[in-house]
Amino acid sequence: MDTRRWNIVKNINKSNEMIQEAANYLIIGDTVAFPTETVYGLGADATNKDAVAKIFQAKGRPQDNPLIAHVATKEQLLNLVTNVPDYVDRLIETFSPGPITYVLPSNGVCAENVTAGLSTIGVRIPSHPVALALIKACGLPIAAPSANISGKPSPTTADHVWEDLSGRIAGVVDGGPTGVGVESTVIDCTQDIPVILRPGGITLEELEVVVGKVLIDPAFEKGETKEKPKAPGMKYKHYAPEVPMWLIDGDFKHMQQVINNLIADGKSVGVLANRNTLERLSSEEKVYAHSLGESLEDVAANLYDGLRSFKYGEVDIILCETYQEIGIGLAIMNRLKKAASKLIHE
Ligand code: TXA
Ligand code: MG
Repeated sequence: MDTRRWNIVKNINKSNEMIQEAANYLIIGDTVAFPTETVYGLGADATNKDAVAKIFQAKGRPQDNPLIAHVATKEQLLNLVTNVPDYVDRLIETFSPGPITYVLPSNGVCAENVTAGLSTIGVRIPSHPVALALIKACGLPIAAPSANISGKPSPTTADHVWEDLSGRIAGVVDGGPTGVGVESTVIDCTQDIPVILRPGGITLEELEVVVGKVLIDPAFEKGETKEKPKAPGMKYKHYAPEVPMWLIDGDFKHMQQVINNLIADGKSVGVLANRNTLERLSSEEKVYAHSLGESLEDVAANLYDGLRSFKYGEVDIILCETYQEIGIGLAIMNRLKKAASKLIHE
């Protein structure tokens, strides 16, 4: 399949036409990748079972992992669900459009493969202008998982999408790098107290300010696990870089020690860390550093690109530092623990 690429950033004056062209592919039941404020999504008409099936096919996604429906307005969101608790109104008021997905009872408007047979559906209103324009241009709810091959790090640029899915999808709308960098917070809103199923762009602390008590699904941390997570996707291997990655606990001295041992073993090492840590490490041959920026927000924004930046043949192993699990750090560490093959304590 020839995959189209619409570069909105370079052709800003033609962006409306390009978005309409992309929307037309969605309307006829094809798949199109597009930017959201979190990561790029691979979209299809959520009401069309055959179109949704193409998403699973292109990604190699397990059939029991449900998709998030993307809508442009609160009204469109309410068209897909039943039994919306009052606290969801407050959450929508405060955080939507934005990086949060509400899991609510489905009313069956979306195709059954969107929800993978569950009675609930995840719905979100992305805040990225291109995503909103695309959804409005086709007038449909758009089912969209992250636009990567299943198991790989999520895409934060159109090049990442291209690397994984060119030839497998109808097109990709290039709107430049995404902002937040980690996916939306998935929150179960079917009970009296909301439960975080996947930490993400809206933090636990921010949610608590609006609704008070918020629970965390204990299964969200585990990789392949026997415990049954409520977000089915959380049980699969995720975010895996091409080269194995170790998570290194402790400060830069511990990182330095691990690097030295690997170098002594004749290994080439990729290091993922923020600028501050990288400046403290002694520079050596066979150590390839990739900066994740300075703040936790920078680390979230640069994380998936960092994981994708090291290739087989260049490095034998990636070492990544750990972060405090506060604010967006909870989502960062959740992704890193899943991406890592080993956690090395001090
Ligand atoms: O930021 C995001 O959420 C991105 C962008 C493209 O919007 N999308 C995304 O989709 O991350 P995906 O498919 O990669 O992850 C969706 C997660 C999975 O862990 C899935 O199991 C969970 O949400 N999920 C979806 N529907 C659900 C439901 N009805 N009940 C529980 N979990 C659900
Ligand atoms: Mg994903």
